[in-house]
Amino acid sequence: MTKPGQDTAAPSARPLRDPADPRALARRRTRWPPAWRAGLCLALGVAVATAAILLAGLSLWTAVLIALLLVCPATMVWAYVMGMRPLPFPLGAAPETRGVTLGWLAPYYDDLCWAFGIGRSFRDRTLAIAGLRRGERVLDVGCGTGVLTRRAAAVVGPGGSAYGIDPAPDMIRIALLSEAAEVSGARFELAAVENIPIGQGSVDVVLVSFVLHCLPEDLKRSGLGEIRRVLRPGGRVLVVDLDRPQGALARLLARLALRHAYMAEHLQGHMPDLLREAGFVRIARAETWRGLVAFWTAENPV
Ligand SMILES: C[S@@+](CC[C@H](N)C(=O)[O-])C[C@H]1O[C@@H](n2cnc3c(N)ncnc32)[C@H](O)[C@@H]1O
Repeated sequence: MTKPGQDTAAPSARPLRDPADPRALARRRTRWPPAWRAGLCLALGVAVATAAILLAGLSLWTAVLIALLLVCPATMVWAYVMGMRPLPFPLGAAPETRGVTLGWLAPYYDDLCWAFGIGRSFRDRTLAIAGLRRGERVLDVGCGTGVLTRRAAAVVGPGGSAYGIDPAPDMIRIALLSEAAEVSGARFELAAVENIPIGQGSVDVVLVSFVLHCLPEDLKRSGLGEIRRVLRPGGRVLVVDLDRPQGALARLLARLALRHAYMAEHLQGHMPDLLREAGFVRIARAETWRGLVAFWTAENPV
C-alpha cells in the first residue's frame, strides 16, 4: 500500500538518477577543488584574520569571532557560486522543509566530518550496528553527501539497494557526482523526511545519521512516523545523534548546543521517548561515542 498522491515506486524498482554511463558522466564532471583544500583555506583565512585582528589589540575571542564573521560569509558565497555550476544531469526542484539543510556546508562537509573523527571507520561502525546484511534494502534519510549511503550500497551488494534522500541540492549534487565518479550502486534523490517518495513497507533498514537534531520538535516526531511507514514490519531503524552528554568536555559542548531548541531534546536524553512515541519497539542504545553521540537501534513492530 502506498500513500495517496505519492510516487509509488520502491527504491529497487525505479531508476532515480540513472545515467546511461556513469563513468562517462564522471569524465564530464565539473571538478570540485578537493574539499580538504577548501577546509584548509578556511582555517588559514580564519588564522590570518585572527592574527591581524589580534595585532590590532583585541582579545583572542573577539579576534576569532570577528575573523569567523569575515571569513564565513566569503566561504558561503564561494559555495553558492560553486553550487550554481551546471550538473551533467537534472537535479529537480528542492522540496520544502522546515529542517536545517546545511547546503552551504556541502563542499566542506566530508572533510569536516573527517576532522571530527567521523571518517570511514565511524561509518563502517554505523553500518555494523545497523546489522546491515547483503541483499537488504536500505534508505538513508538526510544522506548529506552520501558517504554512508555509498558504503551501505557496498555492504548490501547488487542484490540489495541503497537509496539516499536529502532536501539540500548542494548535498545531493555532491552525492551524485561522487557516485558518478566511483559507482557503488547507491541512488540519490532530492527529498525530505516530511514526504519520503517510496511506498509503505518497502525498505528493510532506515539510517538516520545526524539528521534529527536538524529538525524542529514536531518534525522529529512526524518524520519518525514517516520512517515507520516506509519500513517493512520487523524492519530496523538506526538513529545516530547527539545524546545526554557524559564527561566534562561533552557537557561543556552540550551547554552551548542546548541553546538551540532543535538539539535540546537530544541532549536531555529524550531519544528513546521519541522512538517509543513513534511506535518503534526493542529500542536500545547500542553504543555511545565520545560521550556526546549515541547509536540508537529500534524495530518496526511485526
Ligand atoms: C548533519 S547532516 C548529516 C548528513 C549525513 N546523514 C551524515 O551522517 O553525515 C544533516 C542532513 O540532514 C538534512 N536534512 C535537513 N532537513 C531534513 C529533512 N527535513 N529531511 C531529510 N533530511 C534533512 C540536511 O540537508 C543535511 O544534509
